[in-house]
Amino acid sequence: MAKVQKIKGFADLFPEEAAKYTFMESCARKVFSRYGFGELRTPILEKTELFQKSIGEDTDVVGKEMFTFPDRKDRSLTMRPEATAGVVRAFIESKTHQPGLISKFFTFGPMFRYERPQKGRQRQFHQINAEVFGAPEGQADAELILMLTSFLNRIGLKSLTVELNSLGCHECRPAYKQALVDYYKSKDKANFCEDCRRRMETNPLRVLDCKVPTCKELVKDAPLITDHLCADCETHFADVRTILDGAGVTYTLNPRLVRGLDYYVRTCFEVTSLDIGSQTSVAGGGRYDGLIQSLDGPDCPGTGFACGMERLALLLGERELPGPDFYLAVVDDAAANEAMLFAQALRDKGLTGEVSFSGGSMKSRMRAANKSGAKTCLILGGAELADKTITVKDMAGDKDQETLDRAAYLAGL
Ligand code: HAM
Repeated sequence: MAKVQKIKGFADLFPEEAAKYTFMESCARKVFSRYGFGELRTPILEKTELFQKSIGEDTDVVGKEMFTFPDRKDRSLTMRPEATAGVVRAFIESKTHQPGLISKFFTFGPMFRYERPQKGRQRQFHQINAEVFGAPEGQADAELILMLTSFLNRIGLKSLTVELNSLGCHECRPAYKQALVDYYKSKDKANFCEDCRRRMETNPLRVLDCKVPTCKELVKDAPLITDHLCADCETHFADVRTILDGAGVTYTLNPRLVRGLDYYVRTCFEVTSLDIGSQTSVAGGGRYDGLIQSLDGPDCPGTGFACGMERLALLLGERELPGPDFYLAVVDDAAANEAMLFAQALRDKGLTGEVSFSGGSMKSRMRAANKSGAKTCLILGGAELADKTITVKDMAGDKDQETLDRAAYLAGL
């Protein structure tokens, strides 16, 4: 019988890799709390209609990539492909919104999209996600971008590109969509890919984002959203840029940035890197005024972003894990129980370390001590057991060793 293996596109994160995720999460906690964000944990499984209503039926995420299945009572459930929809649903259900009140949440965790796995693209991947409810101002979008860049700086990633655009609002976008449709009509429809031929009718903006080279070429001279913004959207976008300029954040204006989810209005942004292969987007976000209301919630604006942790982990590269404080080498079976109790006393003092469970040769124990990366090797054999001593070997420096009274050693820590 074939052995059971993990599912394609799903990964196991062993300690060295997992340490990168813990590091990113702890930096995010520190940075985000400075901006008044609190953690929200939402379920991984949600009703399918939540994503259909929020992300949009015609997006790749909803149309092609969701892990959707019926539960035992034949209700359609979906493994969350992103966090925003669930956070919005939780916020609405909490009934905590009051006009004028701003709520800020961050969330970490696995997301699921049935995409073709490749470097930086998994079917189960992890996001660090932040959302702000109740702030319609461009200043809130700018603050999010400042928080995102502070976080990226804190984890040591400094040379990333921020791409910025405004997608207009429910007032000015219809005219822009019409201008796009007119432009597409001036081209030979047959030259667009099948998806784009459909999107021209259902979601003309998404054609701008197509990766197929012929489509890219065809939309090269398409009208730009930034030439169609209404006065309010112009001012909103100017506020975002003024703050970013003032704070010294470098960004590129990309009037073709449309993002893959349907809920965005006004500000949208992406952080990209050319150092991780073809999946260049390490973070993305934007404003989604109207989404909360469309999910039967209050009239409350929203804005947010998410970072892809797998892609950030690729950029972080290898990280040295700090070694433990001690390795307790048992070199006589008779000392095994005493060693375990001594190790427990060391850990009660706050030290980190491992103990070999039974006695073994000095050579094999030293090999294990070296491998563990411990700063100190403690040796407990027959002689030490009888004399109530412990041999302490410095694993760094000149590898000095001395035999000390066991109780006195513990008391001196
Ligand atoms: P998104 O652009 O779909 O936005 O995803 C955000 C980030 O998640 C991407 O920039 C990428 O780094 C990572 N990502 C997406 N798919 C994969 C994958 N298959 N494998 C590895 N990483 C991936 C959102 O999800 C929005 N909810 C962001 C947001 C929050 N907008 C407002 N609030």
